[in-house]
Amino acid sequence: MRTGMTVAVLGATGMVGSRVTREAAARGHRVLALSRRPADEDGHATPIALDVTDAHAVREALSASVDAVVLTVRTFPADEGFLVDATRTVLDSAAELGIRVLVIGGAGALRSPGERDLLVADNPAYVPADVRPVAAAGVAQLRTCEAHACADWVYLSPPAILQPGARTGRYRRGTDTLLTATDGRSWISAEDLAVAVLDELEKPGADRHVTVADGY
Ligand SMILES: NC(=O)c1ccc[n+]([C@@H]2O[C@H](COP(=O)([O-])OP(=O)(O)OC[C@H]3O[C@@H](n4cnc5c(N)ncnc54)[C@H](OP(=O)(O)O)[C@@H]3O)[C@@H](O)[C@H]2O)c1
Repeated sequence: MRTGMTVAVLGATGMVGSRVTREAAARGHRVLALSRRPADEDGHATPIALDVTDAHAVREALSASVDAVVLTVRTFPADEGFLVDATRTVLDSAAELGIRVLVIGGAGALRSPGERDLLVADNPAYVPADVRPVAAAGVAQLRTCEAHACADWVYLSPPAILQPGARTGRYRRGTDTLLTATDGRSWISAEDLAVAVLDELEKPGADRHVTVADGY
C-alpha cells in the first residue's frame, strides 16, 4: 500500500473533488488542490489556481513531485470537447512525468446490467434524453483514455446517482458494468466514492475501468 503520496486533485473545489481532497489529506497524503478559483488555504491541502485548458500550466503543476492525479472536472452545460481535451492534456503530461491518473468519469460509460452490449449512456431506462449529452461526454472521455498510448490511467465510473451523503467507508467495487441493488437503485455518496478513489490510488488494481456503489 502506498503511503505519503503527493496527490493532485484537478477540480478540487467540486462536489467530488472536495471530498477526494479531504479523504486524501485525512490519510496523510500531501494534496495539491487545483481549480480555476481555488479554495482558501485550510492547512490540509495546497490550493493552486489552474485552468486545465492551459497545457503548459498543467505540466508545471504536475511536475511538483506528484505521484497521482485525480481528474474530476466538469462544466455546465456538458462540453464534450472540453472534457476530451482536458483528459488528453492531463494524460499527456502524466505519461511524460510517470504519474498515475485516476479519472472520475460518468456512469454512462458503463454497460447496462444484463445487457452487456448496451451502454448506460444509450439506455433510456437510466439516461433520459435530456441527460444524454452528459453521458455521451463521459463515453468520449473513456475512449480518450483508451486511445492514449502511454499513460497509466484508471477510469472510475460512479453509479447512476452520486450525491453528497455520509462516509460509511463501505462500498462495492465492480468493473465495466453498472452496479445496482436488488431494488434497482444504483447509488453512492460522494464521501464513499472518495474512499474508493484513495483505496484505488494506494493499492492500484489491474482493471482500467472500475465502478463502485453503495455497500448496502
Ligand atoms: N452519476 C454520474 O455519472 C456522475 C454524477 C456526478 C458527477 N459525476 C462526474 O464527477 C466528476 C466531478 O463532478 P462534480 O459534480 O464534482 O463537478 P462540480 O461540482 O461541478 O466541480 C467541477 C470542478 O471542476 C473545476 N473546473 C471546471 N472547469 C475547470 C477548468 N477549466 N480548469 C480547472 N478546473 C475546472 C471546478 O472549479 P473551477 O470552476 O473553480 O475551475 C470544480 O472544482 C465529473 O467528471 C462528473 O461527470 C458523475
